[in-house]
Amino acid sequence: MPELSEPELPPLPYDYDALEPHISEQVLTWHHDTHHQGYVNGLASAEETLAENREAGDFSSSAAAQGNVTHNGCGHYLHTLFWENMHPDGGGEPDGDLADRIEEDFGSYEGWKGDFEAAASAAGGWALLVYDPVAKQLRNVPVDKHDQGALWGAHPILALDVWEHSYYYDYGPARGDFIDAFFEVVNWDKVADEYATVTELFE
Ligand SMILES: [Fe+2]
Repeated sequence: MPELSEPELPPLPYDYDALEPHISEQVLTWHHDTHHQGYVNGLASAEETLAENREAGDFSSSAAAQGNVTHNGCGHYLHTLFWENMHPDGGGEPDGDLADRIEEDFGSYEGWKGDFEAAASAAGGWALLVYDPVAKQLRNVPVDKHDQGALWGAHPILALDVWEHSYYYDYGPARGDFIDAFFEVVNWDKVADEYATVTELFE
């Protein structure tokens, strides 16, 4: 059986109570330690099943396992980005090249924000700001679960988790209040780093 590099849960890049009052210590603890850990475990387990099936020459459960890789893998990757694109000293608006690109592709920061909030309000999973390397532009993408409605080839540079586990304990059904709170902690420096990395690759 080939060696598999085990998926691992990355530590939160700040303390569990660091994003209060916008996101509570309780929610971050559950969200990171239970939900994100669950996707890491699900990814590892599905990869193990695929490897065992290849070894046994029995592929009867492989398609289901492949689906589990996609679901849990996207869950793992998007949560990792989500933690990184928040910071206790976050908030405000982007500047530099990223701000220029948002203005170019969406008309203004307000135009982008309204567009992103629409995705966040409607999505059954995530709102993503992505760089589309085919059209060479930024787009907002609403995603159901972790992978349904994804744009092929696009690279997420900002992720907002709007699963109920992300906000219900703090905000109940008032998802809009949670979206407002998210903007108080967005780590624009990190988003700008992601933007610089991906545009260097594709432009
Ligand atoms: Fe989540």
